[in-house]
Amino acid sequence: MIPRRASFADLEAPPVIGHRGARGHAPENTLASIRKAAELGALWVEFDTKLSRDCEVIVYHDDDLRRTTDGRGPVAGKDLAELQALDAGGWYGNAFLGEPVPTLRQAMAVLAELVLGAVVEIKPSAGRETETGRLVAAILQEEWPPFLPPPLISSFSAEALAAAGDTAPGLPRAMNFLKIPADWNMRLSGLGCAALHCRARKLTPQMASSICRAGFRLRCFTVNKKARAETLFGWGVSSVFTDYPDRLLSFRSALDSRRRW
Ligand code: G3P
Ligand code: MG
Repeated sequence: MIPRRASFADLEAPPVIGHRGARGHAPENTLASIRKAAELGALWVEFDTKLSRDCEVIVYHDDDLRRTTDGRGPVAGKDLAELQALDAGGWYGNAFLGEPVPTLRQAMAVLAELVLGAVVEIKPSAGRETETGRLVAAILQEEWPPFLPPPLISSFSAEALAAAGDTAPGLPRAMNFLKIPADWNMRLSGLGCAALHCRARKLTPQMASSICRAGFRLRCFTVNKKARAETLFGWGVSSVFTDYPDRLLSFRSALDSRRRW
């Protein structure tokens, strides 16, 4: 395994965060993908969470099973036992055949084993925003490995973020945007979010500067080119989510120092 810099004192997300684990190298949101990100040198990973029909928190992106498993139909229509019997790796390649859909608790066990931090995105199925926010935050609050940096909760859903904040007020939260709305400051402040996460493509240097000057951390998804990451860091972006941690981490000179303003 590639040696990684010890990070016990680093309580905040580092510049490079593996997206859905290391999505460019392994099936997204699986334990294999989280392990791959660590192997490639990432100190933190991002993954998505939602609920099974029987209210267990799983690591999964889409509302439907078709794209990344051999199952069909809505995730919210299946119990945990049915979801964990699916193959979430074979679609990606034979090397990953039989890789299961993990629970949040199973992902946390791997984070603990590898000493990885995480951005835990709440990705609720439609209509389950509040209960998903509450249940994800409850697990993070009660069971997060105490020797890891605190998890950062993120979501596109204001309802999920509000519920997570009510349940675990001590955990940092970030609001996700595909396109940053004009009232971003009011929305973040109203929810008590410490950071804004946005699609890199839609960010301008002026917008980045306003967000940073307002005192929020700014992180961008999904950035797979090191030159682009460099530009964003120059604008004040503190972290990028990447499918290829290896590509960005090879750019040591720029990424070794943590950015602060
Ligand atoms: O959390 C950042 C990023 O993952 C948000 O977009 O669709 O990849 O979950 P998505
Ligand atoms: Mg995500």
